[in-house]
Amino acid sequence: MDKQEFLKKYIVERRGTDSMKWDGLEGKFGEGAKDLLAMWVADMEFRTCDAVVEALAERSRHGVFGYSIVPEEYYQVFSRWMERRYGFPVKKEWLRFSTGCVTAISWMIHAFTNPGDACLIQTPVYYPFHNVVTNSDRRLVKAELRYEDGYFTMDMEAVEKAIVENQVKMFLLCSPHNPAGRVWTEEELDQVLAVCQKHHVLVVSDEIHQDIVFGGRRFVPAAVVSGGKYRDIVLTLNSATKTFNLATLLHSHIIITNEKLRERYDRFASALNRTEVSIMGMAATMAAYQKGEEWLGNVLEVIWDNYSDLKETLEKGLPGARVCCLEGTYLPMVDLRACVEPERTQELVQERCRLGVDYGEWFGDRYQGFIRLNLATDPAYVKEAVQRLIDGEKEMYRI
Ligand SMILES: Cc1ncc(COP(=O)(O)O)c(C=O)c1O
Repeated sequence: MDKQEFLKKYIVERRGTDSMKWDGLEGKFGEGAKDLLAMWVADMEFRTCDAVVEALAERSRHGVFGYSIVPEEYYQVFSRWMERRYGFPVKKEWLRFSTGCVTAISWMIHAFTNPGDACLIQTPVYYPFHNVVTNSDRRLVKAELRYEDGYFTMDMEAVEKAIVENQVKMFLLCSPHNPAGRVWTEEELDQVLAVCQKHHVLVVSDEIHQDIVFGGRRFVPAAVVSGGKYRDIVLTLNSATKTFNLATLLHSHIIITNEKLRERYDRFASALNRTEVSIMGMAATMAAYQKGEEWLGNVLEVIWDNYSDLKETLEKGLPGARVCCLEGTYLPMVDLRACVEPERTQELVQERCRLGVDYGEWFGDRYQGFIRLNLATDPAYVKEAVQRLIDGEKEMYRI
């Protein structure tokens, strides 16, 4: 399907459908924020693929939503997706389920660490990574990513120092990284995992963005880095929810290859939760992995074109603005510090330009003056947002 056809068919109006992104604007950005152009929370403006809609409709027509089991076929379909795309065939016995990746991070923290233990994150990072640690009475330890000229890299020395000084027990790796937009290379992953292994740190690898990768980059799951050298310290989390826009179907994967860790997790889980899965989440995920790849190809094209358009028009129209790299995810940061005093970013972006975005300081203390934009959206919204930023900055400084 060509891009125009795709947009015509799959862009839908979400206002008035209880969407957090649009109908929750006031809750997030305050009274009077209803009219903001929503470029925040990480879901898409696109209807999911037809196969998912049909699978859910078929389940609905059957009309029974009782307790369910996971069919053999599910494991095969998921494993094939992981093997074919990432060289990571997932055995049935390794797989557990959760209602979401953030919930699963919380379960990993509770299953494998004790109150007061230190958990490491690399900032700036998706803000629930911060909250899930502090709300679990664990110590939050931060290692800053290096930022230079719109590009983020890992600071291995900072990671090791943070681990040693704080006796870190668990590292929450975000791969691909939100909001740094990086798809970590195998070499980078090898280095950071080696540091963790050396200091007996367990790694929770949140790979929810695994399928959203651009420019020929290769996503490498932490569990298969360097021939699987680190898999005994890695707990992998992923789902089809970011890729296929299924967030509130509440179905995600926990992959634990190490038998002892699995036993420990199962003991924890048996006291915590029942193990039935969301029947709708499972049906949707299976259909997506079986028949959704063409739709995904169209989505990636739209996101990439939106990114190229954003980068070209914003950097030209608003000198000093830096659109950061986007190797993966649909959530690039934009560095506005050369255009506006960092503490006035919200005044420019929200009050003048009427945009609803995620602010850099939500992800890391040093990132005031950055905004994160969601590009899984209508290209017309991206153009509109860019124009508003260009005009808003001119008005603000009366150029
Ligand atoms: C890195 C990362 N993990 C987890 C989530 C949310 O996952 P879930 O809805 O499955 O909790 C997001 C959403 O943006 C994310 O970016």
